[in-house]
Amino acid sequence: MKLKSLYRYSLALAVILIAAFSCTRDPNNPGKQYAPNMYLPVGYEPYRQEKANPINPMGLTMRLPVEGTVARRNYNTSFGSGDSAKVDLMVYNIPADSISISERVLKNPVPLNEKSLAEGKVLFERYCQHCHGATGAGDGKVGAVYKGVPNYASDAYKNLNEGHIFHVITYGKARMWPHGSQINPEERWKIVHYVQKLQKGA
Ligand code: HEC
Repeated sequence: MKLKSLYRYSLALAVILIAAFSCTRDPNNPGKQYAPNMYLPVGYEPYRQEKANPINPMGLTMRLPVEGTVARRNYNTSFGSGDSAKVDLMVYNIPADSISISERVLKNPVPLNEKSLAEGKVLFERYCQHCHGATGAGDGKVGAVYKGVPNYASDAYKNLNEGHIFHVITYGKARMWPHGSQINPEERWKIVHYVQKLQKGA
């Protein structure tokens, strides 16, 4: 055999051998990976686990909630007593882009009384007043810089209904940011009562 064809054959053989042995049959083996840190996180992540976790029982990073943990959708208020709503409020399914549905279907489940209004005021002072001002005139100190904060009692805003306001607190609107992650639904409804008081210019 000439040297040249020997060289060709051995090259072809090498290619075949590499092709045959570079892939394994093990479906759990991803084979060679380039820069695996890109998709295999170095930190512990509950939903993504490559190796056994050396610290937790059974090697799992995902752990059961501790005993006594209350599931969020079963959040209970003191239903119906005092200023508390009669229904479970934790699940709010109306999508962010559907404010007109909120306007039509939502009714404030928190009874309007002195206690709920007083708490609504405290919450308003904590979360809204710096922009919206103590009387809702849009003249809070942050509002003065942030600009564009409306007056609740002006013609364009005084008739916004309860569902609309609840939705705006939850998801925000235009330049107003969402507050759903910071204020739980019952608190939001109490703020709604207070905003409605301010809409009357009180
Ligand atoms: C960082 C400042 C800021 C904070 C804090 C803030 N808002 Fe606003 N809010 C705005 C601005 C700005 C607008 C005007 C939004 C727009 O139309 O661009 C607005 C608009 C609104 C509107 C009218 C929405 C509409 O339909 O046009 C309501 C109601 C409202 N805010 C309620 C609240 C309540 C309740 C809180 C507290 C939970 C709050 N906001 C906290 C800045 C703020």
